[in-house]
Amino acid sequence: MQILENVSLKRCNTFAVEARARYLAVLESAADAGALTDWLAGRDLPWLVLGEGSNVLFRRDFPGVIIHPAFTGVERLGEQAGAVHFRAAAGERWHDLVMATIAQGAAGLENLSLIPGTVGAAPVQNIGAYGVELQSCFHELTALDLREGELRRFDREAAAFGYRDSHFKRHPDRYLILDVTLALPLEPVWRLDYGGLRDALANAPETQLSAARISDAVCRIRRSKLPDPARLGNAGSFFKNPVVSRAQAEALRSRFPELPLFPAGEGAVKLSAAWMIERCGWKGYRRGAAGVSPQHALVLVNHGGASGEAIWRLARDIQASVADTFGVELSPEPRIVG
Ligand code: FAD
Ligand code: EPU
Repeated sequence: MQILENVSLKRCNTFAVEARARYLAVLESAADAGALTDWLAGRDLPWLVLGEGSNVLFRRDFPGVIIHPAFTGVERLGEQAGAVHFRAAAGERWHDLVMATIAQGAAGLENLSLIPGTVGAAPVQNIGAYGVELQSCFHELTALDLREGELRRFDREAAAFGYRDSHFKRHPDRYLILDVTLALPLEPVWRLDYGGLRDALANAPETQLSAARISDAVCRIRRSKLPDPARLGNAGSFFKNPVVSRAQAEALRSRFPELPLFPAGEGAVKLSAAWMIERCGWKGYRRGAAGVSPQHALVLVNHGGASGEAIWRLARDIQASVADTFGVELSPEPRIVG
C-alpha cells in the first residue's frame, strides 16, 4: 500500500474539478486491505473509496483519506448452473472486463460496453444501459466491511439492487468492494429493444448477432450521444430518471404529451429527466465554465476550470426549475462529496 499526502484529485475525477485530499491510499493488492484497516485504526479520519471518479462530484477538499483500489485481474472460474463465472478485481476497468469476457466467447455484458469506471464501483449503483443492469449477471462479491474490519460476501439478494441503487449505495463508505463475480448465461439472450440499438444493428437477423457485434453498436451509439470526459469534464447522467406512480405519469402526460415514459415495474413509470431539463431550456446552457452539455441535457459539464461548487449550484438551479415546471424532484446520480 502506498500512502500519499496532500494530493490533488483533479486527475482522479472525470469532472476534472480541483479538490485536494489529505491522504491518498493506493491499494496494490487485495491483501493491502489488512494494512489499510491497521492504518485507519490509529487515526480519526473520514474515508472515501474512489475508483476512476466517474460518478463523483467533489464540492471541496476532502479532509480524510481517499482509498483507491488499483489491483486488477480477470479470472474465468468455470461453469455452473447454465452459466460461466468470471471473477474480476475491484481496480479492473469495467470496459476491459466486458471486452475480456467477449474475447472468451461469453455473452451478457455487451449492452454494458463502454461504461466508464472500475469493476469495484459497478455494483454500487448497479450500473445499467441499453435495457440491461449489472444485477442481471451478478453472482456475488467480496467486500471488506470497513466498520467491523471483516471480509463479507454478498449474493444478489444481499446486494439488494434497484435502479441506480444497492445496499452499498445506501451505506456509503461502509464497504470496500474487493472483487465481483459474474454469471454469464451459456445460452445468450440478446436485448435490443432500448434506445435505437436494433436500428444501429441494421435489423440484423438473429443468426448474425453476436456479443461483439452488439457491443460495437452500443459503443457507436454511446460515442454519438455522450461527451467524452477526456475532452469535456462530466460524470455521465447527473440526475436519475425519476420513477413515479402510473397516475402521476398520466397526469403529466396530459399536460406534456411528448414526455417520454418508460415502464419501471408494477404500477411505476420512469420519466425522462433529460427531456424535462431540455424543456426547461437548460440544454447547452453555460454559466462560466460550468454548463449543460449541448449534446445531452442530462449531462452537466466542466468546460475547464469550473469548481465542484459551481457545478453543484447549477445542478440545484436545474432541480428547482424542473420542480417548478413539472412538480418532480430530480435526485443526483453521482456521489456528491462535501
Ligand atoms: P467512482 O466514481 O470512483 O465512485 C462511485 C461510487 O462508488 C462512490 O460512492 C465510491 O465511494 C463508490 N466506490 C467506488 N469503488 C468502490 C469500491 N471498490 N468499493 C466500494 N465503493 C466503491 N453509469 C451507468 O450506470 N450507466 C451508464 O451508462 C453510465 N454512463 C456514463 C458515461 C459517462 C461519460 C460517465 C463519465 C459516467 C457514466 N456512468 C454510467 C457513471 C459511472 O460510469 C458509473 O457509476 C461507474 O460505475 C463509476 O465507476 P468509478 O470507478 O468511476 O466509481
Ligand atoms: N432526451 C432529450 N434530450 C436530450 C437527451 C435525451 O429529450 O438532450 C430524451 C430523448 O427523448 C430520449 C430520452 O431522453 O429518448 C432518453 O435518452 P437516453 O436514451 O440518452 O437515455 P437517458 O435516460 O438520458 C439513461 C441512463 C444512461 C444510459 C442510457 C442508455 C440514467 C440516469 N441514465 O440515460 O446512464 O447510458 O439511459 O441506457 O438512467 C449514467 O447513468 O451516467 C448514464 C449515462
